[in-house]
Amino acid sequence: MKKIKIQNQPFGPFPTMIIGADVQGKPNYVTVGACGVVSMKPVLYVSLKSTHYTTPGVRENGYFSVNIPPVSLVEQTDYCGIVSGKTVDKSGLFTPFYDELGKAPMIKECSMGFLCKVIQVIPLFDFEMFLGEIVAVYVNEDCVTDGKPDPLKLNPIIMMGASYYSLNEAIGNLFRTGGTLTNQSKTPD
Ligand SMILES: Cc1cc2nc3c(=O)[nH]c(=O)nc-3n(C[C@H](O)[C@H](O)[C@H](O)COP(=O)(O)O)c2cc1C
Repeated sequence: MKKIKIQNQPFGPFPTMIIGADVQGKPNYVTVGACGVVSMKPVLYVSLKSTHYTTPGVRENGYFSVNIPPVSLVEQTDYCGIVSGKTVDKSGLFTPFYDELGKAPMIKECSMGFLCKVIQVIPLFDFEMFLGEIVAVYVNEDCVTDGKPDPLKLNPIIMMGASYYSLNEAIGNLFRTGGTLTNQSKTPD
C-alpha cells in the first residue's frame, strides 16, 4: 500500500479519561487524552496544561484520579473538556467518592477509576506531566469477567482526530497471539 505523508500531529487513537481533583475544596473534572502508562510499574501519567483550573489542585493535594467514562457519558466527557472550572462549577456533574488513601474525587458514574499519588512532576512546554503511583483501583461489579476488568464491558471512549469512538471486539491475546509466528508464547519480562 502506498503511504501518504501527513501533518506531524499526535492524531491518536487515545483512550479518553476524566481526571478528578479537588480544587479549592470542591471536585473538578477535566477530560484528557494525554494519559497512560509509563512502564511496567503501577504508575500512570497525565499531562495537564498549567493554566487549567485542575492543575494546581493536583499539585497542591498530591493526588489525582483517572476515571474511565463509558460511551454513555460521551456528552458529559466532552463537556468537561470544553468548559473550565474557572468559569463553570463542574462539581455537580458527577457523584464523587473518595478512598481513605488519598484526597482526589473518583466518579461513581464511570466504569473504572484509579486513585494516583503524585510521585514526580515534569514540566513539559506549557504542560505539567504528573506521574502518579496507583494507590487504589475501583471497577464496577458489572464490568468484571473472571475477576478482571473487561474492556468491552467498561466500554471506554476512544478519541481520534475530531471524533469519539467505541471499542468493537477482542481480536487476540497479549503475549500469545504473536506466538503463532514463533511457535511459542511468552509472559511479560
Ligand atoms: C477530547 C479532549 C481531550 C483533551 N485532552 C487534554 C489533555 O490531555 N491535557 C490537557 O491539559 N487538556 C486536555 N483537554 C482540554 C481540557 O479538557 C479543557 O481545557 C478543560 O476545559 C480544562 O478544564 P479545567 O480548567 O476545569 O481544568 C482536552 C479536551 C478534550 C475535549
